[in-house]
Amino acid sequence: MTTVPTLPLSHGAQLPAIGLGTWPLDDDAAATAVRTALEAGYRLVDTAENYGNEAGVGRGLRDAGVPREEVFLTTKLNRRWHSVDGVRTAWEHSVRRLGVEYLDLFLIHWPNPDQGTYPQAWEGLVGLLEEGKARAIGTSNFKPAHLERIVEATGVAPDVNQINLNPYATRGASVAADARHGVVTESWSPIKPAEMLADPVVTGLAERHGRTPAQVVLRWHTQRGYVPIPKSASPQRQAENLAIFDFALADDELAALDGLDRGEEHVTDSDEFGH
Ligand SMILES: NC(=O)c1ccc[n+]([C@@H]2O[C@H](COP(=O)([O-])OP(=O)(O)OC[C@H]3O[C@@H](n4cnc5c(N)ncnc54)[C@H](OP(=O)(O)O)[C@@H]3O)[C@@H](O)[C@H]2O)c1
Repeated sequence: MTTVPTLPLSHGAQLPAIGLGTWPLDDDAAATAVRTALEAGYRLVDTAENYGNEAGVGRGLRDAGVPREEVFLTTKLNRRWHSVDGVRTAWEHSVRRLGVEYLDLFLIHWPNPDQGTYPQAWEGLVGLLEEGKARAIGTSNFKPAHLERIVEATGVAPDVNQINLNPYATRGASVAADARHGVVTESWSPIKPAEMLADPVVTGLAERHGRTPAQVVLRWHTQRGYVPIPKSASPQRQAENLAIFDFALADDELAALDGLDRGEEHVTDSDEFGH
């Protein structure tokens, strides 16, 4: 079984360096995927209220029999909970569906600036952190301006900001803002689109290292200090995606992958979209 390294978070928790994504799995598929992933050595699992599979994720956790404290469980709250009290209700619903006593990481899923209450949601999360209901708190899809606003309002920076990030979307401004505030960046859709895995730069590096394209891209994430959460429902691909800590890309190889960036215009704009 692979042992995954961890990264320290600003509020004291340790975040596994790679995790399992669970969207768009339903409850039954999520339960199976989480169980096989934990058996393979995954210790970080990503879900969300919006995925509708928290109950399945919780079932997979219990079926695997891994002690609760060894698993880093992340979920996310929707826009309707963007208030101090709303975040508390969202937490209660999520822990009940998951069948757990606490969350390891609770994220604001999207900033929804049209609604304009993400600073209040953040204030609510800071309260949950102080009460030990979440060991770490964070944001998702927050651009630098959203991040600056909550830090200014509360003096507390997120442990994690989870964003769409991969060699086709290197998100320079966002990762720099995260780093400035000591925020660990997690990468969603870390190995998408499929066309990226067929890119000659990626396949060339895969051939050179005797690895798969997905492994090369996932290694880029971890060497750049990002935490990818690839989704796979296949035990074989789950194992493949985890087996990346026994090789390293050289600086010029990392730079070649950086060079595939297609710019922010291909990324969903979180000033315009959210739920
Ligand atoms: N915060 C947010 O707003 C947000 C948004 C989107 C996603 N997420 C989270 O991020 C996770 C990952 O993102 P994602 O699911 O969009 O994309 P992804 O993990 O980059 O890609 C998933 C796709 O890649 C395939 N795959 C997995 N391993 C592979 C491998 N080794 N080689 C080739 N194909 C492989 C999977 O199919 P198989 O299952 O058949 O292997 C699936 O079709 C989600 O599951 C979710 O937890 C968060």
